[in-house]
Amino acid sequence: MNKQDNKTILSIETSCDETSVAIISNNKVINNIIASSANKQTKFGGVVPEVAAREHEKNIINTLSNSLKDINIKKITHIAYTSTPGLRVCINVGEILAKTLANFLKIELLPINHLYGHIFSFWDLKSSIEYPFISLVASGGNTILYLVNSPNNIEVLNQTTDDAIGECYDKVARVLGLGYPGGPKIDKLFDESKANINFIHNKNFDTHKSFSFSGLKTAVLNYINNNKNKLNNDHIIEIVSSFQKQAIDILIDKTNYYLNLYKVNSISIGGGVAANNYLRNRISSLNIKNKYIPNKNMCGDNALMIGLYALLSLN
Ligand code: KG4
Repeated sequence: MNKQDNKTILSIETSCDETSVAIISNNKVINNIIASSANKQTKFGGVVPEVAAREHEKNIINTLSNSLKDINIKKITHIAYTSTPGLRVCINVGEILAKTLANFLKIELLPINHLYGHIFSFWDLKSSIEYPFISLVASGGNTILYLVNSPNNIEVLNQTTDDAIGECYDKVARVLGLGYPGGPKIDKLFDESKANINFIHNKNFDTHKSFSFSGLKTAVLNYINNNKNKLNNDHIIEIVSSFQKQAIDILIDKTNYYLNLYKVNSISIGGGVAANNYLRNRISSLNIKNKYIPNKNMCGDNALMIGLYALLSLN
């Protein structure tokens, strides 16, 4: 019998604007229910913590009830939940529910680092994972490279000193009136052959230094400001394509640097920006053995990835 076979984990994710509950039982995904409040954030062009927290309060009980329809509650052996990082007022909603359930059912409570969920969101519960691997987590709040030696031995190699890459996608899209979230809109408009505007003039940045996206973001916003009267569709495509090309180049350059430095042959990606088609293509064409790329529906925040990591961390 596999060590994972006799475990049933109910996991809860509420760190940002997705209210999610998932169940993994006997090494099978039972469900992964997600209620997103992203549409409530559109008019603000980003996530407002108080708005997201109120939506979690509205949605959490229904999301839990829908998930529990598929299993006898007495079968649950562990409750896992996102305990950090994220919007504190949002995490609180999931945390109180997780603690109440674990206390009521008298079972083990597993506080989980949300970003570790993103690292392992590619895992299908069956395939074996080769360690060590480098992991690139890129989302609305984080841009981090990790060295993953095992589920319980994860080192941060590099993280952004200013904006996260997803934040820049959202800001550029907002200023161009493309809507929120900006990543998918820019991804759709992207045309590599039109990426002709050079926003980063000072290219001699050192690859080993921390990620930084605020310079690129400011350069794009200044360019848009200075060209307000010339923003037709073709010009917008040129701007977003150039922005995306240069932002993803930064991710790939640093990823390659650490793959070479640690002589690692495997990479995983995760986080909302990992749904980006251009990034996925660039990672797929890296000349290394294992490319652990999650399904697109596992890139955004969800409770299943929290349960997957919880399960791996127990072994
Ligand atoms: O992981 P995630 O769902 O949660 C937060 O960290 O908030 O990531 C959301 C971020 C947003 O900034 C969104 O614009 C970005 O991921 N995103 C994308 C794509 N889909 C979502 N960025 C680039 N390309 C995409 N296809």
